[in-house]
Amino acid sequence: MTSVRFLTGITTSGTPHLGNYVGSIRPSVRASLTHGVESYYFLADYHALIKTEEPGRIQRSTLEIAASWLAAGLDPDRVTFYRQSDIPEIPELTWFLTCVTGKGVLNRAHAYKAAVDKNAAAALDPDSDVNVGLFMYPVLMGADILMFNAHKVPVGRDQVQHLEMARDMANSFNHRYGNHFVPPQAVIEESVATLPGLDGRKMSKSYDNTIPLFASRQQLQRLIAGIVTDSRLPGEPKDTEGSALFQIYQAFATEQETHALRHAFAQGIAWGEAKQFLFDRVDQEIAPMRAAYQELIKDPQRIETILHKGAQKARIVATPFMAELRHAVGLRPLGQSMSASTSKSAKSSIASFKQYREGDGKFYFKLVDASGKVLLQSLGFSSPKMAGQTIGLLQQQGPSALGALAAQLEPISEDQLEVVRDALNSILPR
Ligand code: TRP
Repeated sequence: MTSVRFLTGITTSGTPHLGNYVGSIRPSVRASLTHGVESYYFLADYHALIKTEEPGRIQRSTLEIAASWLAAGLDPDRVTFYRQSDIPEIPELTWFLTCVTGKGVLNRAHAYKAAVDKNAAAALDPDSDVNVGLFMYPVLMGADILMFNAHKVPVGRDQVQHLEMARDMANSFNHRYGNHFVPPQAVIEESVATLPGLDGRKMSKSYDNTIPLFASRQQLQRLIAGIVTDSRLPGEPKDTEGSALFQIYQAFATEQETHALRHAFAQGIAWGEAKQFLFDRVDQEIAPMRAAYQELIKDPQRIETILHKGAQKARIVATPFMAELRHAVGLRPLGQSMSASTSKSAKSSIASFKQYREGDGKFYFKLVDASGKVLLQSLGFSSPKMAGQTIGLLQQQGPSALGALAAQLEPISEDQLEVVRDALNSILPR
């Protein structure tokens, strides 16, 4: 019985806002109700340590985020809902993955790189004020995902690079120690990036333009009244394009309702009236959850119990898997037979390069999988040496050489790219 495993984490460093709800909570809760899907949702509180030094804030955020997901309808009996720091196998796996991850790979991770670039721009030491936690962020995230061998990971665009790294970690571990991990795939939630905030930019804590998901009715009304609009008067037609108010409305409304508001815009609805519309629509969806949320927040012990149960459920998977991984890397009881590593099994799906000459007199190569299927096709080279050198680069550098060699290769489709990356990783030298 194999079902698709979904997994996603939420960093516990803030208060959930409408952008989180529309982009992550609502779609995840809906997805968790689908049959044939196994869902893992967790509170990434180790990740929060990288972002904030306020213990009280982490605790508060953990409570608020857990209560929000539960109030939004997440059923802890159907899914595995847990707190990252309740799973000691995760930091242990982080170390294993640390040892198969190139430092150069982490140098290129965007959050770390942005911090370094900022320092460079200010003429500071490149690593000034940068902690190793930030540097290691992608490895911890890789451990979150690989711990449960998740197939699909719903994330925002900004996390796609981390998913690629997690795939590479899975592949390099498998290559060394045998097949233990499934390389995960990102599922991009386009809407995460698109819900605008009060000022029209993406709704984000870092812009201070958010509407808290469980603001009181009064607060919600006041915040919505503060959404920026242009200065068109009542009676003047309004643009839906670029209107934050319209976009937020759309995220909550049915197609028909959206159509009606578009019409009202064209007819010159007053901004005040449009805001009342938006308030009513949002509140209609949030109000029942708000009541549940208030109940939950008042009873932290109940949430604690739910999270503990979730951790137990998660560890039913994590504990034996970690034992398997410890054995695979050689952390073994000394009495056990010192059998060779299991790394041979990793070679079973190996890919290889084939070099040949075509009727046009040019030299070519292709990368084929174990069944002979062509994964990568070169263009023609004028000498066998040049073809060989190009193969050498791919063998030594793996997928990271693909960009520089694009002019020598036939285009690789988006779908094919992952297969090619995996194949190249599987034949990287140790
Ligand atoms: N880094 C993610 C974010 O900031 C949170 C996260 C931590 C995560 N671990 C994860 C998301 C594992 C998906 C899978 O949004």
